[in-house]
Amino acid sequence: MASFSSSLKAFVALAFLMLFIGSSSAQLSPTFYSKSCPNLFTTVKSAVQSAISKEARMGASLLRLFFHDCFVNGCDGSILLDDTSSFIGEKRAAPNFNSVRGFDVIDNIKSAVEKACPGVVSCADVLAVTARDSVVILGGPNWNVKLGRRDARTASQGAANSSIPPPTSSLSALISSFSAVGLSTKDMVALSGSHTIGQARCTNFRARVYNETNIDSSFAQTRQGNCPRTVGSGDNNLAPLDLQTPTKFENNYYKNLVNRRGLLHSDQQLFNGGSTDSLVQTYSNNPGTFNSDFVAAMIKMGDISPLTGSNGEIRKNCRKTN
Ligand code: HEM
Repeated sequence: MASFSSSLKAFVALAFLMLFIGSSSAQLSPTFYSKSCPNLFTTVKSAVQSAISKEARMGASLLRLFFHDCFVNGCDGSILLDDTSSFIGEKRAAPNFNSVRGFDVIDNIKSAVEKACPGVVSCADVLAVTARDSVVILGGPNWNVKLGRRDARTASQGAANSSIPPPTSSLSALISSFSAVGLSTKDMVALSGSHTIGQARCTNFRARVYNETNIDSSFAQTRQGNCPRTVGSGDNNLAPLDLQTPTKFENNYYKNLVNRRGLLHSDQQLFNGGSTDSLVQTYSNNPGTFNSDFVAAMIKMGDISPLTGSNGEIRKNCRKTN
């Protein structure tokens, strides 16, 4: 009898352990700060609102920061760390350098949050809430953000270079880079709808608008207008990822793809005769389906390898470790 009850105990303990290990984000929860920082959501929302009022594009830049954080060793605020004498951070990695923006806005939001609840809320969670608020303010869907992430003490330029997919990616490369972080093809297509807002630099769409054939010719001509053919000339000139409404979050991105007006090579890969065509078609016709799949995928992306418990720290200043 005694040995039966002790093996039952061992079994229960093992089952709990497996549950814990099996779901690394078990501790993330929308109510994580409800006692320790009850004003978190209003504090972040008003700071994001004021940043977007100053510059509408900022909403897009803040959403992208969260993506580039989560894909590199998980959603751990590592993208926000400046270089130190012991590591080169992610800011100088190829997908980020001269491209990701919004660090000053994150500093402002974090200061406001620190004022409200000192030493409580991680930079990783600030990014997660900021990304959601940006989508909502620009007209997109709302969702409850899971919280409780802690901040990394290091960052990796190499991991950023290898984990964030480049705009030259084929469909199969896009599928594998999302699958490497546990996201499905459907998640990938839904999250790509983020390109309904924001801007891209000529260097990232030059080859597409001059050399590719799966592109609407008048659209290609328009984009060539502000993106000289010669490499090195006008590299940083900007064009909207969604040609009609780059500061409104809706499903226009997919309508563009169906009309062969994707700006990046990687965008048009989602509608180019392959396995994702039908989903693109669905999202182009059904904004409600897009919104609900987008929300589900954002929550999944936010669950990528968080630091929880006693791992990592709650940084005071998002640019450096404590
Ligand atoms: C599917 C693979 C993806 C690729 C290859 C990709 C690539 C790019 C590139 C090249 C740019 C323009 C950067 C520049 O020219 O400086 C860009 C912008 C942007 N990306 Fe993506 N991206 C992808 C997925 C995502 C995801 C999953 C999100 C968000 C969840 C996202 C959000 C954005 C936003 C909002 C912008 C505009 C940023 C701004 O205006 O500052 N992207 N992306």
